[in-house]
Amino acid sequence: MLRANNIICSISLVILVTLFFHADLNAQTNSCVDCHKELGDEFQELVESFEGDIHQQFGLSCADCHGGNPSEEDIDLAKDESFKGIPERSKIPEFCASCHSDSSYMRRFNPSLRVDQEDMYWTSEHGQLLKKGDTKVAVCTDCHNTHRIQAATHPKSWTFPWNIPQMCGRCHSDQNYMKDYRISTTQWDDYKESVHAHALFEKKDLSAPVCNDCHGNHGAIPPEVTSIAYICHQCHPSAGDLFSLSPHKTVFDELEISECEACHGNHKILPPTDEMLGTGEKAVCIQCHEPDTSPYQIAFRIKEKLDGFIEKIDIAGNLLEQADREGVDVSEPKFRLTEANTALIFARNLIHSFSLVEIEEKVNEGEKVADEVIQAGEAALREAKFRKTGLIIATAFIFLLAMALYLKIRQIDKKTSV
Ligand code: HEC
Ligand code: HEC
Ligand code: HEC
Ligand code: HEC
Ligand code: HEC
Ligand code: HEC
Ligand code: HEC
Ligand code: HEC
Ligand code: HEC
Repeated sequence: MLRANNIICSISLVILVTLFFHADLNAQTNSCVDCHKELGDEFQELVESFEGDIHQQFGLSCADCHGGNPSEEDIDLAKDESFKGIPERSKIPEFCASCHSDSSYMRRFNPSLRVDQEDMYWTSEHGQLLKKGDTKVAVCTDCHNTHRIQAATHPKSWTFPWNIPQMCGRCHSDQNYMKDYRISTTQWDDYKESVHAHALFEKKDLSAPVCNDCHGNHGAIPPEVTSIAYICHQCHPSAGDLFSLSPHKTVFDELEISECEACHGNHKILPPTDEMLGTGEKAVCIQCHEPDTSPYQIAFRIKEKLDGFIEKIDIAGNLLEQADREGVDVSEPKFRLTEANTALIFARNLIHSFSLVEIEEKVNEGEKVADEVIQAGEAALREAKFRKTGLIIATAFIFLLAMALYLKIRQIDKKTSV
């Protein structure tokens, strides 16, 4: 009985060991990986890096890109006539596109993936210059990596939003690399100071634009005058719509002034302030409008109107705060004040209509509310004062009463002790 058990055990063991080695052999049939792993640090690094590559995850390997026969262990047999080797830099777009532009091939893996990257690429400034033989421009592997390509949704991917500025900046911020070109190298530094970078990096708001949102992923061209506004519109529809209906729209188009950029800039878009408006030193309006012209007057009046409104909101806020401190319940007028603040937000947005009439209308609406709140605040303070005097009178009265009582008691005491 014991012997039979032993035999069964041994047979199972043999089967298991055979299965294990068989599986291991299967996993090792990729001669490209096997041999390259042994070729020294640099090659080993390459193979290890490829373990996190999306192509590896989809079952593709070295030979799918480089050609050759991965089931041959001998180097000459492995590198048969199908072996492509490494592409020249100028041929990399075609190299990658041999799959990525082939819709029937790509559909087998992911039917929803776009297959126009190469076509788009040739329309970009990068592609245009590469065609002319300039190999310093970005090709697929500069933006995606070579042996650790990852989906754009992977947070470590070079093309994940918060890695993109650094990726583009690797060339565009390098003065030495860009010295042959006439463009500036400040885009990344400027971008870092912008409201957009602040939203992306500080608030982790992935809806804030990075380089590729304004320049395109593959058709990376500087946006033209008309398309800039279109790009900004997509995310700022209300400012965009107002601008399109404003008197500036047609003149800006005629004079080829870029719509939003003229006042906000492109890379270093700072948080807008009221000082941008009007005729003060920091006002954008005076860049184009001379004193004694109608737009200048309008700019002045809009600012004046807005300032008056803000002052009222401040007064109302201060009154409520004071009343609050005095212990009067002002939750209702406080709530009303948020309404006035909302009107202020709308009025600031309405700047893009550049219409005094429209802004006045909105401000008047808000001022009515602010006036009511001011009245409520004053009433609350009166009440607080009234309560205070009431308290003093009451305290005095009680004091007098106590005194009278005391005197009376003493009088009674005197009488009884006699
Ligand atoms: C997605 C396609 C792709 C896959 C898969 C791929 N490579 Fe490459 N490989 C390239 C490209 C493109 C280059 C040229 C790099 C360049 O110029 O930026 C390259 C370059 C190389 C080089 C030259 C040295 C270097 O680092 O540039 C070696 C060696 C190499 N690959 C080996 C491999 C091995 C081994 C594998 C499998 C583990 C592999 N490759 C998988 C696309 C690929
Ligand atoms: C038996 C070892 C061995 C095998 C198998 C092997 N390679 Fe290589 N491979 C090398 C060596 C050694 C070099 C370096 C040659 C040199 O620097 O001239 C190299 C270089 C390369 C290069 C870069 C330079 C070039 O010659 O174009 C690529 C790409 C490459 N191999 C891909 C592959 C692929 C794909 C396979 C599998 C089909 C493979 N290798 C199989 C040993 C091997
Ligand atoms: C200038 C940098 C840059 C170059 C050059 C570039 N890409 Fe991209 N690529 C990106 C960015 C950025 C994304 C996407 C990011 C996103 O979806 O938010 C992307 C996305 C992709 C995607 C995912 C699907 C898609 O279209 O969104 C594929 C596939 C791709 N690129 C392949 C390529 C190929 C192939 C080439 C060369 C012909 C190439 N890329 C050249 C920056 C680049
Ligand atoms: C042998 C065919 C083939 C070649 C050559 C090839 N790819 Fe791919 N690639 C694929 C497949 C298949 C996928 C997986 C599809 C997916 O991501 O859903 C993929 C995925 C990608 C993705 C991720 C897309 C996503 O989901 O966001 C990028 C980026 C990419 N490849 C870039 C490149 C670049 C750059 C090159 C050239 C160096 C290249 N590919 C060469 C077949 C290929
Ligand atoms: C490998 C280096 C490299 C990388 C990476 C790179 N670029 Fe470029 N880019 C260049 C070079 C070189 C030029 C040509 C400069 C010129 O046209 O004056 C250029 C041109 C451009 C232009 C046209 C500028 C003009 O007005 O002429 C834009 C826009 C641009 N790149 C945006 C990007 C964006 C966005 C990214 C990242 C998604 C990026 N680039 C990544 C090297 C690079
Ligand atoms: C909010 C949109 C936006 C973002 C984000 C953005 N750009 Fe731009 N970029 C523009 C506009 C608009 C222009 C000006 C185009 C013109 O005037 O023709 C421009 C111009 C450029 C140019 C041409 C040279 C120059 O400076 O005028 C380059 C290169 C460039 N951007 C690269 C980048 C890089 C790299 C990033 C990321 C760090 C980036 N851009 C982020 C909108 C943007
Ligand atoms: C991909 C979407 C997107 C694009 C494109 C975009 N923005 Fe923004 N923008 C945002 C987000 C998100 C914020 C941050 C909102 C916040 O956190 O308050 C923002 C903030 C701003 C602010 C500050 C608003 C405030 O109240 O403080 C201004 C001004 C601005 N963007 C102007 C522009 C201009 C001009 C362009 C075109 C050159 C542009 N944006 C393109 C998404 C975008
Ligand atoms: C003629 C100058 C000018 C132009 C052109 C302009 N803006 Fe403004 N923008 C301003 C001023 C001034 C403010 C500040 C208002 C305030 O805070 O008092 C402002 C504020 C903003 C704000 C924050 C307030 C709000 O509206 O929510 C955004 C967002 C904005 N602009 C986006 C845009 C976009 C998008 C475009 C292009 C369609 C554009 N701007 C064109 C002058 C301009
Ligand atoms: C980039 C130049 C530029 C900037 C900045 C600019 N404008 Fe204008 N604006 C013009 C031009 C050009 C016209 C049409 C010619 C004219 O009436 O002077 C115009 C027209 C107007 C008009 C219409 C005048 C009418 O009689 O119909 C108003 C109102 C106006 N601007 C207000 C403003 C205000 C307010 C600002 C600041 C927030 C501003 N503009 C900033 C260029 C500019």
